[in-house]
Amino acid sequence: MSASETHPNQTETNQPRRTLTGVTTTGIPHLGNYVGAIRPAIQSSQNSTNEEDKSFFFLADYHSIIKCSDPKQVHESTKAIAATWLACGLDPEKVVFYRQSDVPEIPELAWILNCSCAKGLMNRAHAYKAAVDANNEKADVDPDHGITMGLFGYPVLMAADILMFNATHVPVGRDQIQHVEMARDIAGTFNHKYKPLFTQPSAVFDDNVALLTGLDGRKMSKSYGNTIPLFGEYNPQVDPEKQLRKAIMQIVTNSQAPEEPKDADDSVIFEIYKAFATPDELADLRSQFEAGIAWGDAKQILFEKINSEIAPFRERYFELMANPKELEEILMMGAEKARRHSRKQLDKTRRAIGIKPLAKLK
Ligand code: TRP
Repeated sequence: MSASETHPNQTETNQPRRTLTGVTTTGIPHLGNYVGAIRPAIQSSQNSTNEEDKSFFFLADYHSIIKCSDPKQVHESTKAIAATWLACGLDPEKVVFYRQSDVPEIPELAWILNCSCAKGLMNRAHAYKAAVDANNEKADVDPDHGITMGLFGYPVLMAADILMFNATHVPVGRDQIQHVEMARDIAGTFNHKYKPLFTQPSAVFDDNVALLTGLDGRKMSKSYGNTIPLFGEYNPQVDPEKQLRKAIMQIVTNSQAPEEPKDADDSVIFEIYKAFATPDELADLRSQFEAGIAWGDAKQILFEKINSEIAPFRERYFELMANPKELEEILMMGAEKARRHSRKQLDKTRRAIGIKPLAKLK
């Protein structure tokens, strides 16, 4: 796997590598999330051997309320994402796994950073600019129509997430690179204005990580409604394996007859298969495409491949979903670990800006 970093030369010194990433709690994990974020993050956390080499993973629930004002959805998503990451092998003893809202020092730091972050920097954020552009296309609509301060200041909260733990490496999707660059900028301004307290992070992104195609041929995304759910709906009446098979059978294909030779590179089935199969398995399916394979048979091969990888995690997922107490305990333990860092970092930050006790009381 070849991941790129935005600032590759900065951390060759004695600073330990510290990886941190967050997941916004607005949806239920699908196959694209699994291949693009969950699987690579868990693999890299399992590969690290150095004690100092701690990884931080968190549920960005304060970010979720920027996009989603349905309390039930925020709550359900938090539960499903936590259960998914743990079921897929994230080891909460080895990494720091927590919920953003359980670390109150984060929003406190966000406020402090707000006060040295230029408004002009936020004006340049892609997500904000896109919202303004959309308003400008309509007649008689204020450019800031429907835009909350939460959306506008989103990158500052994200900077607080990252800078709080002095993360050096932040794995993200391409759309988030700008936010990590803004966190660098915000750290630099604070360090210059007060005291060098914050490490400047690098975004880490992987161009080889598959961006999965969805059922309809567009990028797999919740907003297109074309996703394949990872573990299926939490419903004891419906067999989750059947749900997966059913979703795969819905992948859009063309009307070629079964025996006609098919172009593997133009097929969503093959595209998804690539993210799961070994090179030999891939070559084998390619030759079956060339020889002519019925779409239904190709889908069955894809289903079996995906199922063999995720079936071992599925049981644990449903067990955790049925037992939120266990999830809650794991998150509480994670919050405690996170707060050992965040209390110290916030204390240093407050002192640096002149907020500290006037005298020591016994
Ligand atoms: N904004 C990120 C996303 O939507 C989630 C996120 C919040 C995050 N805080 C973060 C990612 C800090 C990395 C580091 O994908």
